[in-house]
Amino acid sequence: MSVIAVAGNKGGTGKTTLSLNLAAGLARLGSVVIIDADPQQSAYQWRLIGEENSTLPAVIAAAFALEKTIQALREVHTHLVIDCPPSIKAPQTEQALRWADQVLIPLQPSPMDLWATSHLARVVDSMRAENPGLRAHLVMNQMEPRTTLSRIMPEAIAELDLPVARTALQRRSIHRLCVLEGRTVFQAGRRGAAAVAEINDLITEILES
Ligand SMILES: Nc1ncnc2c1ncn2[C@@H]1O[C@H](COP(=O)(O)OP(=O)(O)OP(=O)(O)O)[C@@H](O)[C@H]1O
Ligand SMILES: [Mg+2]
Repeated sequence: MSVIAVAGNKGGTGKTTLSLNLAAGLARLGSVVIIDADPQQSAYQWRLIGEENSTLPAVIAAAFALEKTIQALREVHTHLVIDCPPSIKAPQTEQALRWADQVLIPLQPSPMDLWATSHLARVVDSMRAENPGLRAHLVMNQMEPRTTLSRIMPEAIAELDLPVARTALQRRSIHRLCVLEGRTVFQAGRRGAAAVAEINDLITEILES
């Protein structure tokens, strides 16, 4: 059983996209459900687009009954993926971190993302008073290997006092297309293969850690 929260302190870093794809990858290892903890309900909306597709993980919109929902679903499923709102101070993020085995924090190669994240290590640390086993990883997302910002990202991110996942995710247009079409890269055939490989690497890494 694992409860994985995808959180952060900045909008648009890729939390929802990562949540959907992680869940689709985890679905091959056991039963999984996505808990949409964001009042914006992006994950829930995504699932409505793919309503007919029974191979996609279920999404439960639970921003306003989060802890009860987590407690109930963890009894039933092997993995829960919780998509959090873009603020570390949001009550939903705090509630998710209270129950999570681990939190993944995607960051884009941008100074603004790094600044918004500078005090996350303290917040995660303070949550460990209630949830001592909480593990945390920053995940480099939307990396573009040829750009300077992406190249300096590993060095800049190392200063944030949180462990960084070895697996970085590249910016790939297939991610955007799949979200629009209500599916994940796991349903994208050969076009999704490179993105699928990255998500699978990340899953292996975080389940081992
Ligand atoms: N690896 C990636 N490659 C290309 N596009 C990506 C990638 N990850 C996310 N995106 C795109 O970036 C945009 C923002 O992603 P997403 O909505 O998942 O971010 P978020 O952190 O959940 O945003 P919010 O804070 O508003 O909830 C979306 O258009 C998404 O498809
Ligand atoms: Mg989101």
